[in-house]
Amino acid sequence: MKILKTKNYDELSRVGANIISSQIILNSHSVLGLATGSSPEGLYKELIKKYKEGIIDFSNIKTFNLDEYKSLNSEHVQSYRYFMNTHLFNHINIDKNNTYIPNGLSINEIDECLNYEKKISELGGIDLQLIGLGLNGHIGFNEPSSSFTKSTHCVKLSEITLKANSRFFDKLDDVPKYAYTMGIGTIMSAKAILLIVSGKEKADILYKSLFGPITPNVPASILQFHKNLFVVADEDALHKINNK
Ligand code: F6R
Repeated sequence: MKILKTKNYDELSRVGANIISSQIILNSHSVLGLATGSSPEGLYKELIKKYKEGIIDFSNIKTFNLDEYKSLNSEHVQSYRYFMNTHLFNHINIDKNNTYIPNGLSINEIDECLNYEKKISELGGIDLQLIGLGLNGHIGFNEPSSSFTKSTHCVKLSEITLKANSRFFDKLDDVPKYAYTMGIGTIMSAKAILLIVSGKEKADILYKSLFGPITPNVPASILQFHKNLFVVADEDALHKINNK
């Protein structure tokens, strides 16, 4: 595991974008795993900047997102498809046919999950997976539970996640209760993982994830087993680790 400490969120975004850009420069046909949420917003802005400066080219890049709410259509402003289009895809030269996100409206849940896994395998697996960290240690929408899940599946979101994500909706009740997510196994199969974490409120869970016992109660703790994990976190998020 390599931990890179940044002064703040802006620097975290630049460092994270540099790592993704290096992957794209080294392999212009890379398969990237992407995330939504507050953590990667700045990083996506930096990637757009680099694209506009002619430093990176997305024309042969393929992407798979970690997750999508169940029951939201892709035009819904809170769907992760909408997030990805507005925060990244609409501003770069990626072919949208090469961007994969679970279909929240799929009528067959099982097929949706199987097809997602199949597509990832067909394209040779994920080269670099970007992830954020939930306050309860979730990665993707793999919530704390009694076992690690393997592949893409549909989950019931925990109360803490519903509450955390309600900041994007008018009210708590509007947050979809279920979501599709890559499994822990899918995430761990990526050749490299880039975890980005910002803010004091995540210091405790970041410490537990990286240095605590490996347990499905803290899903991100499994990352300790990954051979190629890069953590980019700001001083606030790392303050428990620095103080040990
Ligand atoms: C998003 C995702 C989630 C978030 C996590 C942190 O695609 O899978 O696991 O990464 O909830 O969210 P933020 O970055 O909003 O704090």
